[in-house]
Amino acid sequence: MAIKHSFLDDYSEGADPRILKVLEDTNLAQEIGYGNDRLSHEAVRLIKRRLRAQHVDVHFVSGGTQANLIALAAMLKPYESVIAVSSAHINIHEAGAVEATGHKINAVEGTDGKLTPAAIQRTVAQHTDEHMVKPRAVFVSQATELGTVYSKAELGEILKTCRRAGLYLYLDGARLGSAIVSKASDLNFADLPLLTDIFYIGGTKNGALLGEALVIVNPVLKENFRFYLKQHGALLAKNRVLGAQFVALFKDGRYLDLARHANLLAAKLSEGIKTSGYGFLSPPTTNQIFPILPDAVIDRLRRKYGFHVWAPAGDGHSVIRLVTSWATKEKAVEEFLRDLPRA
Ligand SMILES: Cc1ncc(COP(=O)(O)O)c(C=O)c1O
Repeated sequence: MAIKHSFLDDYSEGADPRILKVLEDTNLAQEIGYGNDRLSHEAVRLIKRRLRAQHVDVHFVSGGTQANLIALAAMLKPYESVIAVSSAHINIHEAGAVEATGHKINAVEGTDGKLTPAAIQRTVAQHTDEHMVKPRAVFVSQATELGTVYSKAELGEILKTCRRAGLYLYLDGARLGSAIVSKASDLNFADLPLLTDIFYIGGTKNGALLGEALVIVNPVLKENFRFYLKQHGALLAKNRVLGAQFVALFKDGRYLDLARHANLLAAKLSEGIKTSGYGFLSPPTTNQIFPILPDAVIDRLRRKYGFHVWAPAGDGHSVIRLVTSWATKEKAVEEFLRDLPRA
């Protein structure tokens, strides 16, 4: 049987129709290139208002790897490194993009995909002189690669540790919407400029055709940032396309509404999976969940549903990753739960 519903990721569908509408409505308007268009300016204004921060700079880029590379380029000197959990996207899933620039990633063990202040302190203490790299930045993602979230207090402790050690704090917000509306986190938009040096608001995985909004808080990092964008091929002549999308996302709270939909259906999935007697790799709190199922059940489900088999879990079981999106249909979730046998 052909795959009927995909839970592979949150970028399988195109874009929220409201985004397409803004693109269509503005299609014939003649605009200046490279981010100096009216749509990009309006998107920046709306984002600053949502963050309750007029002092930040906002730049648009096309994807998450690009955002991470450019942010790190602005933060790190040639001999400096970035601390991240070993499961971090930059460490596992970016084809060595960071390492290809000559920067080491100090990968440390985390808890449920989250970095701890103790691990940061340990790493800093281990790097004592010029025979080693010098940790200069900390990378966290909200939500994490395991679908978990940092609370305000947790991120606050990480920031304190960074400040004491002279490290920048960078937050990868590929799934920031899902994290913000998660019941497990009290961290909101307005907290981010207070708790990070630089972060991005992910559009690609939250209803945009593509695009992320990089937000720079620390004035040192703002300087000449457009040169970093240009050197990385990220200063887009058609920046209006990204601007228009973020206007649609931030005009009337649409960004969080889309994330709410994804989380609601992920919660429905995880409740049903729990009720059927299965456990999870990490607490299911956002739109990515990681149930542990018998391999025979996985094989059967794979005939009808798309999802990633994440890791072996021993004893004839594996962890799978199910991702819901802004466009996931309730019917797909209900069918999946009906097809899942009780443990
Ligand atoms: C947390 C996180 N950061 C960055 C990325 C990279 O995004 P892209 O594939 O757009 O480069 C992803 C993509 O899955 C991600 O999940």
